[in-house]
Amino acid sequence: MQDINWKEIEEKLKDTLDEERFRHTLGVSYTAAAIAMAHGYDVQKARLAGMLHDCAKSVPKEKRIPMCEEYGIEVSECEKENTGLLHSKLGVMIADRIYGISDEEILGSIRWHTTGRPEMSILEQIIYIADYIEPNRDTYLEIPAEIRQYAFSDLDRCCAMIMKRIVGYLGSSSKKKDEMTEKACDYYCTLTGI
Ligand SMILES: [Fe+2]
Ligand SMILES: [Fe+2]
Repeated sequence: MQDINWKEIEEKLKDTLDEERFRHTLGVSYTAAAIAMAHGYDVQKARLAGMLHDCAKSVPKEKRIPMCEEYGIEVSECEKENTGLLHSKLGVMIADRIYGISDEEILGSIRWHTTGRPEMSILEQIIYIADYIEPNRDTYLEIPAEIRQYAFSDLDRCCAMIMKRIVGYLGSSSKKKDEMTEKACDYYCTLTGI
């Protein structure tokens, strides 16, 4: 992996993200590193992907769509309605241009961390899961211990469990579901039989 200036990345993120988001970012980073250890995956790569996964959260709401237009990023109908979803696509662009990340696996994990997708790579699964289970989530979301345990033993099952909860939650709210969220959920629930 490329040489990483952790201090510089951390300081840049601290300057651009609000305090809560920065705390979450560190939580995802060390949780991703721990999950990587359990699965024999590259720990530093998982740590870095976790650090950067929400780097575009600093882009103000009103600038998200214009910024996508500027960089030729396609915006779906669902993303137009819920621009929060765009921080995944914008995150890829910012990780690449501002943080100098060229690793396709890391960029992929940023791209898919919000909705997931069928057949995710190991790193995509690690970041998707770490984003959901990192310890700071406990302040507003009840996460069953079982989900956290599966993160360290069965990535597919853990993804399926998280996706099922998210799809269930979105179904009961007025928020429009990104179609990839449902596709990913169907795929992992079928794969693991849950
Ligand atoms: Fe995010
Ligand atoms: Fe996040």
